[in-house]
Amino acid sequence: MNQNNRIVVLGSFVADLAFHVETLPVWGETRMGSSFAVGPGGKGSNQAVAAARAGGNVCFVTKLGQDSFGEMARKLYREEGIDTGFIASTTHPTGAAAIILDEKRGENAIIIVPGACFEITTDEVDRAREVIASSSILVAQLELPVSVVEHGLRMARTSGVTTILNPAPALPLPESIYPLCDYLTPNESEAASMTGIIVDDLAGAERAADALLARGVRNVALTMGANGVFLKNRNLTAHVPAVDAGAVVETTGAGDAFNGGFAVALAEGKDFREAARFACAVAGISVTRRGTAPSMPQRDEVEALLASTPQG
Ligand code: RIB
Repeated sequence: MNQNNRIVVLGSFVADLAFHVETLPVWGETRMGSSFAVGPGGKGSNQAVAAARAGGNVCFVTKLGQDSFGEMARKLYREEGIDTGFIASTTHPTGAAAIILDEKRGENAIIIVPGACFEITTDEVDRAREVIASSSILVAQLELPVSVVEHGLRMARTSGVTTILNPAPALPLPESIYPLCDYLTPNESEAASMTGIIVDDLAGAERAADALLARGVRNVALTMGANGVFLKNRNLTAHVPAVDAGAVVETTGAGDAFNGGFAVALAEGKDFREAARFACAVAGISVTRRGTAPSMPQRDEVEALLASTPQG
C-alpha cells in the first residue's frame, strides 16, 4: 500500500430534494407532504463527505455545473476540507435527485438526473492520474458513465492503488469491470441484480458473493441493512453485525456512509473485518439523522460508538 493514505472518490454530485410524506401518493394523486429539504447529495459526494468526516484525506473527482447547486457542492467541500483540484466544470446544469420518504413505512424512492457530473470524460479523469496513482484507495459508484468508472478503476489498479466499487445504483456491468475491483460493496438488491441470486439471508449472501468472486472480484462486502454486512474472500467468510447507534430516522445514504467509512479504515491499514465494523458504525450513526451528506458522523462520534459497542 502507498505510504500516502489519500482516498480518491470518483463519483457524482447532485442536489437532493427530499420530500417527507406520510403515505406515498398513487399515480395521478397529489398529496400534502410534511417537510421538504434541499441539500447536497449524489453517492460519490456523500461518500467523499463520509470519508472526510471519518478522518480521511479525500480528493473528489467529479464535474459540476456553474449554478447554485454546483456552488452548494463547492461550499460543502471547502467546509469539509475535501480537495477539489480535479473537479471539472461545465455550463450545463448540475443534477438533482427527487427523494420521496414514506414516513409510515420508513422507505424511500429516488429519481436521479445526474446532470453535469454525467458529462465527465476519461480525459478529465486522466488529469487526476498522478493524484490517483499516489493514493491508497480509489472509490467509485455507478452514477457516472460506466466507461469512465471502469477507466478510473483500471488506472488505480495499474498503479497498485486499492479499488472499491460500490455498484449503486444497480446497472448491467461489463464483465471486464469485476477483476478491477479489490472490494465490491453491493447491497442485497444490487447483489441479486448482478448475480440473479436472491439475497435475503446469509446463505443467499454467500452464494451471491461466491458468484462475484468467481468473476474476478477479490473481496465482497455485501451490505444487509439492519443485518450488518457479509464478507467473503478466498480466505475469509464472515458476518459483521450492524452497529446500533439509536433509533433509525432515515436510511437514505446509509450505503454511502458505509463506503466512506470503509475506505478510511482500509486506508489506515485496518483488515477487512475491522474495516467493515468501522464502516458499520459510520452507517449506524448516519441512519439516526435526516439527510444524506449532512447525516455523516465525525470521527470522534464513530470512535465513541465503537468503544461502547461490544464486538459481535
Ligand atoms: O445514496 C443516496 C444518494 O443516492 C442520494 O444522495 C441521491 O442523490 C442518490 O444519488
